[in-house]
Amino acid sequence: MNLERKEVLVSPADLDRQREFEEKIKAMFTERQAHPVACVDTFGCQQNVADGQKLMGMLAACGFTFTDKPAEADLVILNTCAVREHAEDRVFGNLGALTHAKKENPEMVIALCGCMAQEERVSQRIKKSYPLVNLVFGPHALWKFPELLWQVYESRKRVFSVDDEHGTIAEGIPVVREKGVKAWVSIMYGCNNFCSYCIVPYVRGRERSRDPQCVLQEVRELVESGYKDITLLGQNVNSYGNDLNLGYDFADLLADIDKIPGEYLIRFMSSHPKDATKKLFDTMARCGHVAKQLHLPFQSGNDRVLKEMNRRYTRQQYLDLVNYAKSVMPGLVLTSDVIIGFPGETEAEAMDTVSLVQEVGFDALFTFIYSPRPGTKAADMPDPASREEKQKWFDKLLEVQNGQSAALHAAYVGKTVRVLVDGKSDDEKFPLASRTEGNRLVRLKGDERLIGQFIDVKVTDSNTWALYGEPV
Ligand code: SAM
Ligand code: SF4
Ligand code: F3S
Repeated sequence: MNLERKEVLVSPADLDRQREFEEKIKAMFTERQAHPVACVDTFGCQQNVADGQKLMGMLAACGFTFTDKPAEADLVILNTCAVREHAEDRVFGNLGALTHAKKENPEMVIALCGCMAQEERVSQRIKKSYPLVNLVFGPHALWKFPELLWQVYESRKRVFSVDDEHGTIAEGIPVVREKGVKAWVSIMYGCNNFCSYCIVPYVRGRERSRDPQCVLQEVRELVESGYKDITLLGQNVNSYGNDLNLGYDFADLLADIDKIPGEYLIRFMSSHPKDATKKLFDTMARCGHVAKQLHLPFQSGNDRVLKEMNRRYTRQQYLDLVNYAKSVMPGLVLTSDVIIGFPGETEAEAMDTVSLVQEVGFDALFTFIYSPRPGTKAADMPDPASREEKQKWFDKLLEVQNGQSAALHAAYVGKTVRVLVDGKSDDEKFPLASRTEGNRLVRLKGDERLIGQFIDVKVTDSNTWALYGEPV
């Protein structure tokens, strides 16, 4: 289902109103001669990190400065993730600790936002059992944050904004970006895929793509202000543009971004295999700014499990895609997401996942044990395998992948590679951190003045997780 564009875009007048609320909050603090400090604690994926940067942008406009110590803050925001039970447990743990801090500082305002806030089960629990939480709002209400915060300060009542919506696009929200060379750009929001295990479509609404011109303008500004490693974000960037009806797809967007002059790399995540096309891989191969790196989650190597997951591709189709991508981009760095222990999965089926990993030779994997998400289809499926069994399959997968990562990394030793030095490392002997075009971590000897530059380095050593080297 496509949404009407006019229903999707938040109007400039509505956005202007939010800027007015920012001014009101700022004036209130000025009048009180207060210097408010906020702590924004973000969990989950890069989309949530990008949302956290918008929250900080709006807070800066309200006059806040920032701390990463919740106990020192006047306002604490937990920007949460709902993708696995463990992520939610951590947030409830943090909330417990915060309510303790609030007893010391009764003026502290506590807000919970992000994907968990959009789950009715969670917002009800906060309403009943966490009375010290002042503000709860889901991703759909992010753009209205200044207004919601004003309501909290003005009324001193608890505010909940968690209506279930298809979702909107709000352009022009201020952003506080991390200093350095890396930046995130959401090109679309939401997800239409309803993989049977996944909560994201329920909390992030339907797919909606930003206008290409807005994305291009943002990337242009980032390149001009010195960002060099820019990642385009969406739950499935391969369906970018489907809702725009412009005959313009993700490959077209990449090709247009690539025309922006400057020294920078473009990455993107995530790609859904069912929508990945030869056109996309051909475009990647052709575009000099597009990193030859692909994060293409496959989730399972078994066709029955893939069908139950509602992934809409087969093992063979996945292999064909990867082989095509490798054929047009020799040296392509490949990563993926995998779930072990989907309801009803047998040991033999889990081993199909392990054999796919062996067959493809991924540079790295993000591996998860299935976590039931209430409200999703899979949460109601029979799940007879024990946690111990699943752990055994998971350990086998890790053993195979770690061996592969170590071997692929070892093959770099002795070679000279181009890297972007992006910060300091925690290793005294190799004080700099850098990334190859394929996003492999290289710990480096060298001077801090190299941070922010593309340089050639000789790889001298490696392990499962990183490469080590020195500038040539
Ligand atoms: N949209 C991306 C895609 O489809 O490739 C994935 C986004 S999701 C936030 C990141 C990863 O979390 C998924 O690829 C999947 O491996 C994992 N995941 C999602 N739901 C899960 C669940 N219920 N239990 C365990 N892992 C899960
Ligand atoms: Fe979740 Fe599937 Fe959407 Fe990814 S594509 S966010 S796994 S429903
Ligand atoms: Fe988590 Fe929401 Fe991202 S559920 S993984 S923060 S989209």
